[in-house]
Formats: sequence, C-alpha cells, structure tokens
Amino acid sequence: MEWERIRKRPEDYVSANLQEYEGYAKNFAWSQARALLDGLPGGGLNIAHEAVDRHVLAGRGDKLALRWIGRDDRIRDFSYATLRAQTNRFANILAQAGIAKGDRVYLLLGRSVELYIAALGTLKNGSVLSPMFSAFGPEPAKARMTIGNAKALVTTEAFYRRKIEPWRKELASLQHVFLTECSANRPPGTVDLNAALAQASDSFETVWTSPEDMALLHFTSGTTGKPKGAVHVHEAVVAHHITGQLALDLHADDIFWCTADPGWITGTSYGIISPLTNGVTMIVDQAEFDAERWCRILQDQKVTIWYTAPTAIRMLMKTSADFPKRFDLSKLRLMASVGEPLNPEAVVWGVDAFGKPFHDNWWQTETGGIMISNYLSMDVKPGSMGRPLPGVTAGIVERVEGGAVREITEPMAMGELALRPGWPSMMRAYLNEEERYRKCFVGGWYLTGDLAMRDSDGYFWFVGRNDDVIKSAGHLIGPFEVESALMEHPAVAEAGVIGVPEPTAGEVVKAYVALKGGFEPSEALRKELLGHARQRLGPAVAPKDIAFRQNLPKTRSGKIMRRLLKARELGLPEGDISTLESEER
Ligand code: PRX
Repeated sequence: MEWERIRKRPEDYVSANLQEYEGYAKNFAWSQARALLDGLPGGGLNIAHEAVDRHVLAGRGDKLALRWIGRDDRIRDFSYATLRAQTNRFANILAQAGIAKGDRVYLLLGRSVELYIAALGTLKNGSVLSPMFSAFGPEPAKARMTIGNAKALVTTEAFYRRKIEPWRKELASLQHVFLTECSANRPPGTVDLNAALAQASDSFETVWTSPEDMALLHFTSGTTGKPKGAVHVHEAVVAHHITGQLALDLHADDIFWCTADPGWITGTSYGIISPLTNGVTMIVDQAEFDAERWCRILQDQKVTIWYTAPTAIRMLMKTSADFPKRFDLSKLRLMASVGEPLNPEAVVWGVDAFGKPFHDNWWQTETGGIMISNYLSMDVKPGSMGRPLPGVTAGIVERVEGGAVREITEPMAMGELALRPGWPSMMRAYLNEEERYRKCFVGGWYLTGDLAMRDSDGYFWFVGRNDDVIKSAGHLIGPFEVESALMEHPAVAEAGVIGVPEPTAGEVVKAYVALKGGFEPSEALRKELLGHARQRLGPAVAPKDIAFRQNLPKTRSGKIMRRLLKARELGLPEGDISTLESEER
C-alpha cells in the first residue's frame, strides 16, 4: 500500500536547525561541526569535556542537565555543575585505583544515576567505556569483558553475585569491581561505589585525549563467532553533537527524552552524549515501558523532543489513538524513532494520536551516530528511513564478480545499503578482529549488511537484513551466541537459532535443537532448555521458543542453514538448496 506523504508546513519548523536540506547538505563540512566544540589544548578532544565541563566553564553550570526519575517516581536533579563534580569524583576513584588512560571500564547497571556518573567519569579519566545491557546474563557479560580485557566493572551487588562472581577468577585483567546498591557484607574483592564517591575529591583535570584515542567499546553481534567490539574514538563526539542538532533538532532549551537503555549504543550516543554536548535537559526514567507512565512523563516533564523505538511505539498503539490525547503534550515538538523498521501505520498513528508523525532514522553500532533521517523540515514518507545526514554519502550497491561492488542508481532497486567512510563516529576497528573489520569495506564503501532501496527523491527504504542477525525489541542478537549457550547443555547435539516475526517486538528468538543420543524430546526438556538458556544468556538474548528436530539442515561443509530453518518456519519457498547436505533434502 502507498502511504500519502506527510507534508511539512513552514510553521512546523520555524526554528529548526536544518531549514533546507539540499542547500545545507551541499555546503556541509565536518570541520564546521568540529568547530562547534571546544576541544582540549593542543588539538585534544574528550567527549566528557564537551558533554559536561564545557558548559560549566561557559557559565551554564546551573542549567539542569539530567533529571532522573526513579521507579518509585523519586526525582533526582543534576545541574551541569553537579554532574561535573560527580563525574570528577568518579574519575578520581579510577585514577587512584590505577585505572589509566586506555583501560577498559565496563558497566552492568540498570538506568541508575551511577550509570551516568560512571560513564562520563570514565571518559574524563581517558579510560574506555564499555556499557553492557543489564538484562544480559553471565555468558554475554563474560564474553564481552573477556574480549575487551575489562580492567574495571561497575555493577550492583545483586548482578555481581549472579552474573560475575561465578566466573570472575577466569578473567585476570579484571582488577576492580565497584558496586552500587550494596549491603554491609558485600562480596570480597569489591568496593562500595557510593562510599568511595562520597570521599573522593570533586576536582579533576580531564585526562588529555586525542581525537583518535579510543573512547567507547560497544559490542554488536554478527552471524557467526563471538560478539564484535566496535571501537569508537573521542572524535565521534563531533557526529554525536551535530546529528543531535540536525536529526533530532536539539536546541539548548529543549527537554529531551531518549528512552533507549545505555546498555545499547542509542542510549549512549543519544541518551548521554549528544543531549549533553548540546546543553539540553535530559530525562532518564529508571522504569520499563508503561503506556500511562510514559505519557505522564511526556506531560509532566514537558518533554519537547522524544527519541524512542518502534517496539515501544507499537506497544503504545495497543492503547487507542485517543489515549495520548488525555495528556497535555502541547510542548512535544519532535518525535523520532530508531533501531528497527518503523511500520508506516505507526508513523500515521503518530499523527492521529499526537498530532505529528514519528520521524524514523537509521544507523548502527558501527556508524556511531545517525546516518539517515527524516528531518523536522522535510516531508515524511511513512515507511521510509529518510535521507542521509549532511556529510554522509549513502548508496545502494550490489556485489559483483571479483569481490567488487557496483552502485545501483535506478530508483527503488534493492541492494545493500552502503556508506562512504569518513564521518567522525565511524568505528575504527572491531577490537582484535582485523579481518572481520576489513571485510566491511569494499570498493570505497562501508557495507552495512542491510538491504534497502532509494527512491527518486533520495529517500531510503529499509528492506531487511542481509544476514542471520536477529532484531528483537530493537536489540541485536547474534544467533551464534544463543546456539553456543544451548550447546553447553548436555542434551543438545546441535542448535540453530533464527528470528521469527512477532507483531510487537518485530522478531523473537526461536531455537531449533537436535538432541544427543539417549535424550528424547519432551515438554519437560523443552522447559529445561528454555530455563538453561535464560539463566546463561539473560532474558534479553534467550530464545522465547524451542522446537526439537531430528536433524538440522546443514551445508555440506557442516554449517547450519538458518535461512532454510526460517523459510520452513514461515512456509516460504526454500530458495537455493544446492549446498544442502544430501540426506537433508
Ligand atoms: O538492521 C538495521 C536495524 O538495526 C541495525 C543496527 O542495530 P544496532 O547496531 O543495534 O544499532 C543500534 C543503533 C540504531 C541496522 O543494521 N535498524 C536500525 N535503524 C533502523 C533499522 N532497521 C530499519 N529501520 C531503521 N530505522
């Protein structure tokens, strides 16, 4: 079905940072964006300085930086000056513990205030920040901390006992564990973070970092192998800052709510860095989605810009379009969405329910910041991700013989979405995986792994993934990680994991399992395997469903054909099965 475009009238974008796309994009240079930031003496650049200290030094210290809303509705406010003092304290704790520039500091925290203090304090100390999603179980946490040689971890006592302590001795690099929410008899080898914060000095000189020094380590998932550590450098802040202005239209007087969890990159790039470098007031809600609560926060906090995700929008859509109208949302001026395909119905529902459309945008852990977006000043075509950010060149390419690619310029022809490298927040490496990183670049393009189309107006349309990676509720899940955890169970001979379409979460994880001799499929064993996976992987990653199979379809070289499992699950044509092992046919 063709959706009518949602036209923008000049009064919709009177004060928008991006008034006229074509002209702005033509004249844009990244050096202009860099010039909007302070930098450190001698050409240095540090994300935390730009996010926090810069505002205080410019006399904006009293401005409210962060309003944190607890699960119990308790509010804690941090001005830029308070945030500076608290992040200084944390940086001092790290420095005194001997945690230095370049050392990896991991977080495994829900959206507590300590998360924000630790994230920014880590960057001030020149250390590398690696946030993990709090719903990860012990296996994903261990894999990520091992790959990145974690030196320090900030977590809660409960998470530590359940997810870290059982294997801590296996990771020699992990020398410091700071605990929040801890009891009087906290486990040995841990430090009470809040007690340490109270004692630490609140003055700290930001460690000098160059724009190319590693700042952030965000893990993402591939089809095979371990999670990949996408390395981002301090220069990424140039993109965080300007994309916040262009795609999210951030102005210093905005009240901005990014609902993403900082355990995933959206919650760091746009839930911490971009809003703060732009000097806005940002809202953080510790609680999980609840339609009533969210509308109440939008109303009571007078949110002006709201950045959320399709799964949440679809959950909201389960209420009626009249539901949001019960709240005074007159301050809300831009709604944006990211992370998974946003159905055209959802964009149009936004107009019914909120009087304005959701503005979809697209990016990846690897790109560090928004790359394609619908802008406040530009007509929205429901179902389209929008147009490339100024400074970003996107194309549709196809792989051709000889390992090269060819750009496809015909409108609405499907191919792989590709970007010309060169923007500041592009990953600089997959940590210790040179080959995997190199493979992302062909013929002067960075290949995204997504299939897409471009129309004759230059709008991009998402088609699907080019690989077996699963997107569930906006979270990227690597099938291999799930299969590996299932294989650890004594009954499992083989496992194949796919994403199965589900109306709210987009996809949910489903596993197919072949059992070892001596084990019989049963409901009890199915439940046991579900429980095993959940305990190892955590609820964010574990399969929601498991089905038993005698054998799994494999290629002659022994690789499980997930694509075929999926086609069969969905009753779709099986496609090319020439590589299928003969007994499987
Ligand atoms: O497949 C695309 C999907 O999410 C992937 C990136 O996921 P992640 O690395 O977790 O990045 C999170 C930051 C957004 C993409 O390769 N994706 C992201 N945005 C969209 C999307 N799919 C469709 N529409 C989008 N707007």
